[in-house]
Amino acid sequence: MRFATIDHERLAAELLGVSVGELRARALAGSLELPQGYDAAARRLERGEPLQYVVGRAAFRRLQLKIGPGAFIPRPETEVVAGAAIDALMAWPEGRRLAVDLGAGAGPIAAALATEVPGARVVAVERAWAAAGQARDNLEPLGVAVVNADVGAAVAAGGPLAGLVGRVAVVAANPPYLRPDAELGPGVAEHEPPAALFGGGEDGLAAPLAFLAAAARLLRPGGTAVMEHDPSQSAALRRHAQAEGLFEDARTGRDLAGRERYLLATRTAGAGRSGRGAVESPGC
Ligand SMILES: C[S@@+](CC[C@H](N)C(=O)[O-])C[C@H]1O[C@@H](n2cnc3c(N)ncnc32)[C@H](O)[C@@H]1O
Repeated sequence: MRFATIDHERLAAELLGVSVGELRARALAGSLELPQGYDAAARRLERGEPLQYVVGRAAFRRLQLKIGPGAFIPRPETEVVAGAAIDALMAWPEGRRLAVDLGAGAGPIAAALATEVPGARVVAVERAWAAAGQARDNLEPLGVAVVNADVGAAVAAGGPLAGLVGRVAVVAANPPYLRPDAELGPGVAEHEPPAALFGGGEDGLAAPLAFLAAAARLLRPGGTAVMEHDPSQSAALRRHAQAEGLFEDARTGRDLAGRERYLLATRTAGAGRSGRGAVESPGC
């Protein structure tokens, strides 16, 4: 049996729940039977719908997450960002491993934190109703609370996360950060939610800066913000993080391709605008 494209082959493997290697072995042995629903799924694929939406699943680190239209499809570069957030949370003693995932989408970062960090308490915030529903499906079985709200409103006085202000060890985020003129991969513009992609403003930084301000409110002194960005935004985000003294030690981490991919910034002591002072370290 021959498949029209490699994506058709991957689709058949996904629907059967086997690897592409196993699928090819069955095809060679003449024992391959196409799974039920293959033809309808192949038609969706041929119309340009991403494979993950068609099969309803996306792999992220050690996990298989439910995913569908309305939620951003987790990307491989975010696995590295989640890894940095995991390392930052592991540096705190078990009783203090409180983390918040801002703009959680279907919940990949929050799920990785909850499953890879012993004793972690994780809260996920997501504004889009459809994505928040998928986050609930993925995260509530892991004990992660999902809050359907805007990040700014969530951390404001009286907001659903007001009780966490100044108490969080790690804030992780993959905000929308694309510039308006960004080139998108196949199927992205047609199928993924624009509000999950474009950061706003000419430089795509409006949403990342709003997320950074929310992270500054949530973090305890010495806590860490880990935030994904476009490689072109690294210097601007380091500068913004340190500009008002809210963060110190702002650094940039790279993805597996060596591109500058995320901000790692440590919250200074004191919630004030000039706020420099003694920083509580994770080990204390
Ligand atoms: C790039 S997607 C990342 C989703 C997920 N964290 C991931 O890595 O797959 C950004 C997410 O942030 C959400 N978002 C954008 N602006 C937001 C805001 N102001 N408050 C809360 N969520 C927001 C979008 O709906 C989208 O799900």
